[in-house]
Amino acid sequence: MEKSVDPVLPLKLRADDRNLRSIARRNTIGKILSSSYSDAISNLAFKVCDKVLTYRQMKDEYVELSHQQQKLDNVDITLEETGYEGRGQELAVALSYRQEIEDDLQYKNGSFSGVLHDAQIRLIGQVIENDTSIKTVVNFGASYAYVDHILAGLHAGVHFFGLDRSTATKTLNEISFGVHDNLTFTADDVFEFLDKHPSQGSAILLHSRTATFITRQHITGLYELAHRSGYKYIVGIEPFGISRLTCEPYEFSLQDERSVVYLGGFCIHNYPHLLKRSGYTIRHLEVLTTSNADPDHRQLAFIASA
Ligand SMILES: C[S@@+](CC[C@H](N)C(=O)[O-])C[C@H]1O[C@@H](n2cnc3c(N)ncnc32)[C@H](O)[C@@H]1O
Repeated sequence: MEKSVDPVLPLKLRADDRNLRSIARRNTIGKILSSSYSDAISNLAFKVCDKVLTYRQMKDEYVELSHQQQKLDNVDITLEETGYEGRGQELAVALSYRQEIEDDLQYKNGSFSGVLHDAQIRLIGQVIENDTSIKTVVNFGASYAYVDHILAGLHAGVHFFGLDRSTATKTLNEISFGVHDNLTFTADDVFEFLDKHPSQGSAILLHSRTATFITRQHITGLYELAHRSGYKYIVGIEPFGISRLTCEPYEFSLQDERSVVYLGGFCIHNYPHLLKRSGYTIRHLEVLTTSNADPDHRQLAFIASA
């Protein structure tokens, strides 16, 4: 299921031509239909013909992607305005992850959760085993803390923090996983948490499908704060592929690149560059494939150290 690709930068997805063409076609139709000129015509078409309903989806998708890109480019946006809309949605997502695990569907129906879980357990385990000074792991955005619970069981000498914004997620995790000496669930903002919990070179900051929901200036600010606060490692696993807005496969490099929307609420940051400019060096980089229905869907997994 997981596959390592030559970890050399710059790193660009070798896109499948058919996949690229179909993404470009969908994008062009969405763009045309979302222009004000064609609005009246397309609205009429939506009403008269069932088959044309898919055009409405293309239009809505294009409008939503453009809106997300504007948000991503807006340097004045607050962290609170990013991510899930409200704490209720956060709990709903955590419950859906729990359901997926209970139904044994992490690797099925296009889910990529299982690939993420395996990679987190493997990469965090790798860092802990190679560096005995590690005493703390902070998971920025644990959601349903299945992985944190497994990791805490495997590494008794390390303290794990599962960090989320909502107290409801914290309560769900406490009910689901009980109380452990080396696992704490916390409802706090990640910036405030790092301020309150500096480390002296003995901590890992982990994020998995979380940075994809926040803006470039926030993930950069977080990496800079982690570095100032003495967090020795950053481990990340985040989605990427062909942007449904630019129709280009994303290229990771050590150069400054714009963050772009990918699809369905995800965005892609140039993690190698953002880590480097915050004082971290990439030690391990790999591309994970999943059985997601979108053939271009990948996860970038990395370990960086200060
Ligand atoms: C998609 S979920 C994480 C999924 C999980 N890591 C996984 O791989 O299954 C994103 C989580 O990030 C948390 N989050 C987003 N912004 C945050 C912030 N500023 N501080 C703390 N947690 C935050 C949300 O509370 C949410 O639970």
